[in-house]
Amino acid sequence: MYVVPDSDNPKGTTLPMKRRQALFDIAEADDILLIEDSAYAEIQFKKKLRAIKTLDKENNRVAYLGTSSKEAAVLRVGYSVLPPMVKEQVLKDKGYLDLCTTTLVQRILDEYYKNHIDDAMKVGIPQYEDRYNAMAKAIDKSFPPGTRTDPTGGFFIWWQSEKKDFDAGTFLEKVAIPNDILYVPGAPFYPISGHRLTKDNTDVRPSLPEHQTMRLGFSYAPPDVITEGITRLGKLLTKELG
Ligand SMILES: Cc1ncc(COP(=O)(O)O)c(C=O)c1O
Repeated sequence: MYVVPDSDNPKGTTLPMKRRQALFDIAEADDILLIEDSAYAEIQFKKKLRAIKTLDKENNRVAYLGTSSKEAAVLRVGYSVLPPMVKEQVLKDKGYLDLCTTTLVQRILDEYYKNHIDDAMKVGIPQYEDRYNAMAKAIDKSFPPGTRTDPTGGFFIWWQSEKKDFDAGTFLEKVAIPNDILYVPGAPFYPISGHRLTKDNTDVRPSLPEHQTMRLGFSYAPPDVITEGITRLGKLLTKELG
């Protein structure tokens, strides 16, 4: 089972500690391997939650995956803590795919993580938080009725119009791009086939794409550009949706 517990992509939501424990318990009871993709675990504005991997005292239930691509973004190297039962096969398969990550890049990252990352994160995380705050504020001020997520880290806010017939994909092409605004429509993030829990958690229903959704990324642009872009998008959305 694959899970992104920290400020996930695309919604930016975080799995609370209680649910991490519950998920781990289910995996134990049903002999499931959890793949914990922690791509955004280091980009956290508040206190970090403990990884599900920390519950895996025997190192046989959780494959923990990290990546330098968010926290040391110029270089792109994955790292992992793997249970012995999958480690050998994963190393083999990775070798078949890429014949080893470039050694020089690994050496550079080794130096960087040993000597610089903590200082860099002290500077970088507040900057991401400023960008998040600028985006959240501008959405709340200028968007038509809908809901947004409230991430405590990562790179994304997810917004959903209350109008179910709104299609964020068509709006992107016809209105947003011609006005120099780019976002990612939400529908392609849904599985082609699959199920989701009902609101009361007692049953499952087919998981259908929700076209009235969008992923808004705050990692790249500075706060003033974000404020301007989101305000412009808000005006266009309001014109369309009232
Ligand atoms: C949840 C998640 N995992 C993994 C990755 C990929 O990381 P990498 O840049 O190391 O391929 C991303 C990148 O967007 C991501 O959002």
